[in-house]
Amino acid sequence: AENMLWGGRFTQGLDPVMEQYNASLPYDRLFYSQDIAGSIAFARANYNNGILTSSEFSAIQKGLAQVKDEWANNTFEVKQNDEDIHTANERRLSEIIGKEIGGKLHTGRSRNEQVATDMRLWLREELWRVESELVDLIKVAVSRAEAEIDILIPGYTHLQKAQPVRWSHWVLSHATGFLDCLSQLRQVISRVNRSPLGCGALAGNPFNIDRHAMAKELGFEALLPNSLNAVGDRDFVFETLQWGSAFMLKISRWAEDLIIYSSLEFGFVRLADAYSTGSSLMPQKKNADSLELIRGKSGRAFGHMAGLFCTIKGLPTTYNKDLQESVEPLIDHIKTVSDSILIATGVLSTLTVNAEKMRAALAPEMLATEFADYLVRKGVPFREGHHISGRVVALAESKGVPMDQLGLADLKGIDERLGDDVLECLDYERAVELKSATGGTSKSAVREQIDLLKKAISGE
Ligand code: ARG
Repeated sequence: AENMLWGGRFTQGLDPVMEQYNASLPYDRLFYSQDIAGSIAFARANYNNGILTSSEFSAIQKGLAQVKDEWANNTFEVKQNDEDIHTANERRLSEIIGKEIGGKLHTGRSRNEQVATDMRLWLREELWRVESELVDLIKVAVSRAEAEIDILIPGYTHLQKAQPVRWSHWVLSHATGFLDCLSQLRQVISRVNRSPLGCGALAGNPFNIDRHAMAKELGFEALLPNSLNAVGDRDFVFETLQWGSAFMLKISRWAEDLIIYSSLEFGFVRLADAYSTGSSLMPQKKNADSLELIRGKSGRAFGHMAGLFCTIKGLPTTYNKDLQESVEPLIDHIKTVSDSILIATGVLSTLTVNAEKMRAALAPEMLATEFADYLVRKGVPFREGHHISGRVVALAESKGVPMDQLGLADLKGIDERLGDDVLECLDYERAVELKSATGGTSKSAVREQIDLLKKAISGE
């Protein structure tokens, strides 16, 4: 135990299972470069404080650069007592430059502030990447919506045919939700991007270290203002998991629609081979595995969020080792979200739309509301118009024909206010174009949405 960083007061080594149970290096080695950047900033601040001489600081800086190279080249040799990335880096630094100087790096510092710093630095980069992946997904949606604006599909409520809409309107409905995710993500990033460095184990730094200078060197936007909070806070992790879960929930519903639309029964879309798989038994099968995995992995993302809430909820103020359990869920969650965005973007940019099948799925009954609206335009109260239109539907049903097979005489027999021009109600394009108020499915209203989305994602 003497060899451990904290070995001074210990006389016995760790139980072997405990050693493995306690170690976070297998996953926090991912943060090696962040850990080293944090150490260099810390050493520089301690040099400016007079804690380190200029030659000690350059020795530390040079040594740390070598440690970083070893990780990068896969030549870093992990030793038995390397509990976590902070321990491993400091142990190796002292091997390279000697304990006399290496032992000064940790002056006034705690691993509690280090791990929070490393996680925030790492997460910030990941979220910046996720942000640009999300922008790309929205861009693909917008360009499909532009190119395919003339195609109509049945719009559904309760998964029952409701009213005709533009295919682009469906595409944009999801892109609109993703745009909200994007602006939420930007807020999350600005809270992640704050520096805990210089907060010590819990109480702060005793050598009046310049926290602003360290934050600036590391590119943080701001400082965390309270040391107890800075070391014990994992809001930045669970906010990320909440954000990612909300995104996965949305992309999962998007995937569900496309799974339905790609079934043989619907046939609206065909997934590219690159995002489908076959069956080992049934040669005709082409399964939408990419979309099913998005739907399935959303459960895994929610699970990490719920798990972390349970881990944190009963913890006393500041650092407790339980917080180490926030690292793996975070790493896994980010990968799940990022991969899901990439897959969704791939699926959406390569799928083929079958406009004829979409068209064929439109049913005249979806125009029943048009009859009521027609009567409204003739001065009939909507409630009465709805009733009359309902009788049109009922008559078609009792005759066993689709609504558009009823003759003008049939219609006039129901209500004489259904005039000669009523047959124009049976036009899907007309029905769609009438929904021209902002947010609707007419061409101009859809174009407005396209412009809004383009503006929101451009030039930022
Ligand atoms: N490896 C730890 C973690 O990931 C950081 C070390 C702090 N440990 C401690 N016993 N103070 O949370």
